[in-house]
Amino acid sequence: MRPLAVPSRTATRVVAHRGSSDAVPEHTLAAYRRAIEEGADALECDVRLTADGHLVCVHDRRVDRTSNGRGVVSTLELAQLAELDFGSWKDGSLPPEEPEAPDRAPELSVLGSGPGAWRVPDPERTSVLTLERLLELVADAGRPVELAIETKHPTRYAGRVEAELLRVLHRFGLLAPGPSPVRIMSFSQLSLRRVRQAAPSIPTVFLMERLPLRFRDGTLPQGVGIAGPGIDLVRANPGFVARLHRAGHRVHVWTVDDPADVELCLRLGVDTVITNRPREVLAQLGR
Ligand code: G3P
Ligand code: CA
Repeated sequence: MRPLAVPSRTATRVVAHRGSSDAVPEHTLAAYRRAIEEGADALECDVRLTADGHLVCVHDRRVDRTSNGRGVVSTLELAQLAELDFGSWKDGSLPPEEPEAPDRAPELSVLGSGPGAWRVPDPERTSVLTLERLLELVADAGRPVELAIETKHPTRYAGRVEAELLRVLHRFGLLAPGPSPVRIMSFSQLSLRRVRQAAPSIPTVFLMERLPLRFRDGTLPQGVGIAGPGIDLVRANPGFVARLHRAGHRVHVWTVDDPADVELCLRLGVDTVITNRPREVLAQLGR
Protein backbone atom coordinates (compact mmCIF):
# COMPACT_ATOMS: atom_id res chain seq x y z
CA MET A 1 0.00 0.00 0.00
CA ARG A 2 1.31 3.45 -0.90
CA PRO A 3 1.90 5.72 2.11
CA LEU A 4 -0.36 8.74 2.35
CA ALA A 5 1.17 11.78 0.72
CA VAL A 6 2.19 14.24 3.41
CA PRO A 7 1.49 17.78 2.27
CA SER A 8 4.64 19.85 2.01
CA ARG A 9 4.85 22.54 4.67
CA THR A 10 6.70 24.89 2.36
CA ALA A 11 4.03 24.53 -0.32
CA THR A 12 1.47 26.12 1.97
CA ARG A 13 0.98 29.76 1.05
CA VAL A 14 0.78 32.45 3.70
CA VAL A 15 -1.50 35.47 3.33
CA ALA A 16 -1.22 38.49 5.60
CA HIS A 17 -4.73 39.25 6.83
CA ARG A 18 -5.27 43.05 6.80
CA GLY A 19 -1.47 43.23 6.60
CA SER A 20 0.75 42.17 9.48
CA SER A 21 -2.18 43.22 11.58
CA ASP A 22 -1.32 41.56 14.86
CA ALA A 23 1.70 43.85 15.15
CA VAL A 24 0.70 46.93 13.19
CA PRO A 25 -2.66 48.73 12.82
CA GLU A 26 -4.76 46.76 10.35
CA HIS A 27 -5.26 47.91 6.76
CA THR A 28 -2.53 50.55 6.97
CA LEU A 29 0.30 50.90 4.52
CA ALA A 30 2.71 50.13 7.36
CA ALA A 31 0.92 46.83 8.08
CA TYR A 32 1.21 45.76 4.44
CA ARG A 33 4.79 46.96 4.07
CA ARG A 34 5.73 44.90 7.09
CA ALA A 35 3.94 41.82 5.72
CA ILE A 36 5.93 42.12 2.50
CA GLU A 37 9.17 42.48 4.47
CA GLU A 38 8.27 39.43 6.56
CA GLY A 39 7.89 37.33 3.41
CA ALA A 40 4.12 36.90 3.10
CA ASP A 41 3.09 35.37 -0.23
CA ALA A 42 -0.01 37.52 -0.45
CA LEU A 43 -1.89 40.34 1.23
CA GLU A 44 -5.56 40.30 2.20
CA CYS A 45 -7.66 43.45 2.32
CA ASP A 46 -11.30 44.41 2.65
CA VAL A 47 -12.63 47.14 0.40
CA ARG A 48 -15.52 49.57 0.89
CA LEU A 49 -16.80 52.45 -1.21
CA THR A 50 -16.60 55.98 0.13
CA ALA A 51 -19.42 58.49 -0.47
CA ASP A 52 -17.45 59.89 -3.41
CA GLY A 53 -16.76 56.50 -4.96
CA HIS A 54 -13.23 55.58 -3.85
CA LEU A 55 -12.33 52.11 -2.67
CA VAL A 56 -10.70 52.19 0.74
CA CYS A 57 -9.30 49.34 2.79
CA VAL A 58 -11.52 49.24 5.88
CA HIS A 59 -13.07 46.18 7.47
CA ASP A 60 -15.97 47.56 9.50
CA ARG A 61 -19.03 49.37 8.19
CA ARG A 62 -18.16 52.22 10.57
CA VAL A 63 -14.81 53.85 11.24
CA ASP A 64 -15.33 53.90 15.02
CA ARG A 65 -13.25 50.84 16.00
CA THR A 66 -10.16 51.57 13.94
CA SER A 67 -9.96 55.35 13.91
CA ASN A 68 -10.44 58.39 16.10
CA GLY A 69 -13.58 59.30 14.12
CA ARG A 70 -17.18 58.18 14.02
CA GLY A 71 -19.48 57.36 11.16
CA VAL A 72 -20.27 54.97 8.34
CA VAL A 73 -17.56 54.65 5.68
CA SER A 74 -20.01 54.88 2.78
CA THR A 75 -21.33 58.23 4.04
CA LEU A 76 -17.88 59.83 4.31
CA GLU A 77 -15.79 61.24 1.49
CA LEU A 78 -12.18 60.23 1.02
CA ALA A 79 -11.00 63.69 2.14
CA GLN A 80 -12.93 63.25 5.42
CA LEU A 81 -11.43 59.81 5.99
CA ALA A 82 -7.99 61.27 5.28
CA GLU A 83 -8.46 63.56 8.29
CA LEU A 84 -8.80 60.59 10.65
CA ASP A 85 -6.13 58.68 12.53
CA PHE A 86 -6.42 54.96 11.70
CA GLY A 87 -3.42 53.87 13.75
CA SER A 88 -3.27 55.26 17.23
CA TRP A 89 -6.15 53.12 18.51
CA LYS A 90 -3.81 50.16 18.22
CA ASP A 91 -0.86 51.84 19.86
CA GLY A 92 -3.12 52.99 22.67
CA SER A 93 -1.53 56.40 22.43
CA LEU A 94 -3.56 59.03 20.67
CA PRO A 95 -1.38 62.15 20.79
CA PRO A 96 -2.39 65.13 22.92
CA GLU A 97 -4.45 67.75 21.13
CA GLU A 98 -1.54 70.01 20.27
CA PRO A 99 1.58 67.90 20.43
CA GLU A 100 4.92 69.57 20.25
CA ALA A 101 6.34 68.12 17.09
CA PRO A 102 10.05 67.32 17.29
CA ASP A 103 12.35 68.89 14.68
CA ARG A 104 12.94 65.60 12.98
CA ALA A 105 10.45 62.80 13.34
CA PRO A 106 11.84 59.31 12.85
CA GLU A 107 9.46 56.63 11.53
CA LEU A 108 7.70 56.36 14.83
CA SER A 109 8.92 58.57 17.63
CA VAL A 110 8.15 57.63 21.20
CA LEU A 111 8.42 60.70 23.36
CA GLY A 112 9.19 59.91 26.93
CA SER A 113 8.69 56.41 28.24
CA GLY A 114 6.15 54.46 30.22
CA PRO A 115 2.40 54.69 30.02
CA GLY A 116 2.38 58.48 29.64
CA ALA A 117 4.49 58.40 26.49
CA TRP A 118 2.87 59.35 23.21
CA ARG A 119 3.96 58.67 19.67
CA VAL A 120 4.32 61.00 16.75
CA PRO A 121 1.94 59.50 14.21
CA ASP A 122 3.64 58.01 11.15
CA PRO A 123 1.33 58.64 8.15
CA GLU A 124 1.94 55.13 6.85
CA ARG A 125 0.68 53.80 10.17
CA THR A 126 -2.23 56.17 10.65
CA SER A 127 -3.70 57.16 7.26
CA VAL A 128 -6.66 55.60 5.57
CA LEU A 129 -5.43 53.37 2.75
CA THR A 130 -6.93 53.39 -0.72
CA LEU A 131 -6.89 50.24 -2.82
CA GLU A 132 -4.90 52.14 -5.44
CA ARG A 133 -2.14 52.97 -2.95
CA LEU A 134 -2.02 49.34 -1.86
CA LEU A 135 -1.67 48.22 -5.48
CA GLU A 136 1.23 50.67 -5.90
CA LEU A 137 2.94 49.13 -2.87
CA VAL A 138 2.49 45.64 -4.30
CA ALA A 139 3.79 46.77 -7.70
CA ASP A 140 6.92 48.15 -5.99
CA ALA A 141 7.46 45.13 -3.73
CA GLY A 142 10.46 43.91 -5.71
CA ARG A 143 9.11 40.34 -5.74
CA PRO A 144 5.81 38.71 -6.69
CA VAL A 145 3.17 39.39 -4.04
CA GLU A 146 -0.43 38.33 -4.57
CA LEU A 147 -3.45 40.26 -3.42
CA ALA A 148 -6.69 38.78 -2.06
CA ILE A 149 -9.34 41.49 -2.09
CA GLU A 150 -12.61 41.01 -0.21
CA THR A 151 -15.72 42.96 -1.20
CA LYS A 152 -17.60 44.02 1.92
CA HIS A 153 -21.41 44.31 1.86
CA PRO A 154 -21.47 44.50 -1.94
CA THR A 155 -25.24 43.94 -2.21
CA ARG A 156 -25.83 47.42 -0.79
CA TYR A 157 -24.21 49.15 -3.76
CA ALA A 158 -25.91 47.43 -6.71
CA GLY A 159 -22.68 46.46 -8.44
CA ARG A 160 -20.77 49.70 -7.84
CA VAL A 161 -18.14 48.05 -5.62
CA GLU A 162 -17.32 45.44 -8.25
CA ALA A 163 -17.39 48.00 -11.09
CA GLU A 164 -14.96 50.30 -9.30
CA LEU A 165 -12.79 47.38 -8.24
CA LEU A 166 -12.48 46.14 -11.81
CA ARG A 167 -11.85 49.67 -13.07
CA VAL A 168 -8.92 50.02 -10.65
CA LEU A 169 -7.55 46.57 -11.47
CA HIS A 170 -7.77 47.38 -15.18
CA ARG A 171 -5.87 50.62 -14.61
CA PHE A 172 -3.06 48.58 -13.04
CA GLY A 173 -3.08 46.11 -15.93
CA LEU A 174 -4.36 43.32 -13.70
CA LEU A 175 -7.23 42.10 -15.85
CA ALA A 176 -5.05 40.68 -18.62
CA PRO A 177 -5.71 37.04 -19.52
CA GLY A 178 -3.43 34.47 -17.90
CA PRO A 179 -2.47 33.74 -14.31
CA SER A 180 -3.59 36.61 -12.10
CA PRO A 181 -1.78 37.85 -8.98
CA VAL A 182 -5.16 39.10 -7.73
CA ARG A 183 -8.18 37.18 -6.49
CA ILE A 184 -11.53 38.46 -5.32
CA MET A 185 -13.13 37.05 -2.21
CA SER A 186 -16.63 37.46 -0.86
CA PHE A 187 -19.27 35.92 1.38
CA SER A 188 -21.70 37.09 -1.30
CA GLN A 189 -22.32 34.78 -4.25
CA LEU A 190 -23.86 37.71 -6.09
CA SER A 191 -20.66 39.73 -5.79
CA LEU A 192 -18.53 36.85 -7.06
CA ARG A 193 -20.93 36.33 -9.97
CA ARG A 194 -20.63 39.98 -10.94
CA VAL A 195 -16.83 39.72 -10.92
CA ARG A 196 -16.81 36.50 -12.95
CA GLN A 197 -19.17 37.90 -15.55
CA ALA A 198 -17.11 41.05 -16.07
CA ALA A 199 -13.63 39.55 -15.62
CA PRO A 200 -13.60 35.78 -16.05
CA SER A 201 -9.80 35.62 -15.74
CA ILE A 202 -9.84 36.76 -12.10
CA PRO A 203 -9.99 33.86 -9.62
CA THR A 204 -12.77 34.08 -7.06
CA VAL A 205 -12.94 32.79 -3.49
CA PHE A 206 -16.25 31.90 -1.81
CA LEU A 207 -15.94 32.72 1.89
CA MET A 208 -17.83 30.57 4.38
CA GLU A 209 -18.31 31.07 8.08
CA ARG A 210 -20.48 27.98 8.59
CA LEU A 211 -20.85 24.77 6.61
CA PRO A 212 -23.21 25.76 3.79
CA LEU A 213 -25.96 23.15 3.43
CA ARG A 214 -26.01 23.56 -0.33
CA PHE A 215 -22.26 23.09 -0.71
CA ARG A 216 -21.48 20.66 2.08
CA ASP A 217 -20.43 18.04 -0.51
CA GLY A 218 -17.50 20.24 -1.51
CA THR A 219 -18.99 21.78 -4.62
CA LEU A 220 -18.94 25.59 -4.90
CA PRO A 221 -21.04 28.20 -6.73
CA GLN A 222 -20.69 27.93 -10.51
CA GLY A 223 -17.29 29.15 -11.70
CA VAL A 224 -15.74 29.65 -8.24
CA GLY A 225 -12.41 27.84 -7.95
CA ILE A 226 -11.38 28.53 -4.39
CA ALA A 227 -13.10 27.83 -1.07
CA GLY A 228 -12.53 30.17 1.86
CA PRO A 229 -13.77 28.48 5.02
CA GLY A 230 -13.14 30.02 8.43
CA ILE A 231 -10.93 28.09 10.84
CA ASP A 232 -13.91 27.42 13.17
CA LEU A 233 -15.69 25.68 10.31
CA VAL A 234 -12.56 23.62 9.53
CA ARG A 235 -12.05 22.64 13.17
CA ALA A 236 -15.65 21.45 13.42
CA ASN A 237 -15.67 19.77 9.97
CA PRO A 238 -12.10 18.72 9.10
CA GLY A 239 -13.41 16.32 6.43
CA PHE A 240 -14.80 19.28 4.48
CA VAL A 241 -11.29 20.17 3.28
CA ALA A 242 -10.87 16.78 1.59
CA ARG A 243 -14.33 17.08 0.00
CA LEU A 244 -13.41 20.49 -1.41
CA HIS A 245 -10.15 19.09 -2.76
CA ARG A 246 -11.91 16.08 -4.29
CA ALA A 247 -14.26 18.49 -6.04
CA GLY A 248 -11.20 20.18 -7.55
CA HIS A 249 -11.09 23.31 -5.40
CA ARG A 250 -8.24 24.98 -3.61
CA VAL A 251 -8.80 25.77 0.06
CA HIS A 252 -7.81 29.06 1.70
CA VAL A 253 -8.54 29.13 5.43
CA TRP A 254 -8.90 32.25 7.61
CA THR A 255 -7.95 33.48 10.21
CA VAL A 256 -5.22 31.08 11.29
CA ASP A 257 -3.16 32.61 14.10
CA ASP A 258 -2.88 29.78 16.63
CA PRO A 259 0.05 27.36 16.06
CA ALA A 260 -2.29 24.40 16.68
CA ASP A 261 -4.60 25.66 13.93
CA VAL A 262 -1.63 26.05 11.60
CA GLU A 263 -0.71 22.41 12.30
CA LEU A 264 -4.30 21.31 11.65
CA CYS A 265 -4.30 23.14 8.31
CA LEU A 266 -1.00 21.52 7.37
CA ARG A 267 -2.30 18.07 8.30
CA LEU A 268 -5.38 18.63 6.18
CA GLY A 269 -3.33 19.84 3.22
CA VAL A 270 -4.90 23.29 3.18
CA ASP A 271 -3.43 25.26 0.28
CA THR A 272 -3.29 28.69 1.90
CA VAL A 273 -3.55 30.06 5.41
CA ILE A 274 -4.67 33.62 5.98
CA THR A 275 -3.21 35.05 9.18
CA ASN A 276 -2.74 38.24 11.18
CA ARG A 277 0.72 36.90 12.15
CA PRO A 278 2.55 36.09 8.91
CA ARG A 279 6.02 36.17 10.46
CA GLU A 280 5.16 33.60 13.13
CA VAL A 281 3.30 31.33 10.69
CA LEU A 282 6.14 31.47 8.15
CA ALA A 283 8.57 30.54 10.93
CA GLN A 284 6.35 27.60 11.92
CA LEU A 285 6.45 26.46 8.29
CA GLY A 286 10.24 26.64 8.36
CA ARG A 287 10.40 29.55 5.93
O1 G3P B 1 -9.92 36.43 4.60
C1 G3P B 1 -11.27 36.28 4.85
C2 G3P B 1 -11.65 36.94 6.13
O2 G3P B 1 -11.04 38.18 6.19
C3 G3P B 1 -13.13 37.08 6.27
O3 G3P B 1 -13.52 37.62 7.49
O4 G3P B 1 -14.38 39.44 8.88
O5 G3P B 1 -11.93 39.12 8.66
O6 G3P B 1 -13.24 40.02 6.75
P1 G3P B 1 -13.26 39.12 7.96
CA1 CA C 1 -11.56 40.21 5.13
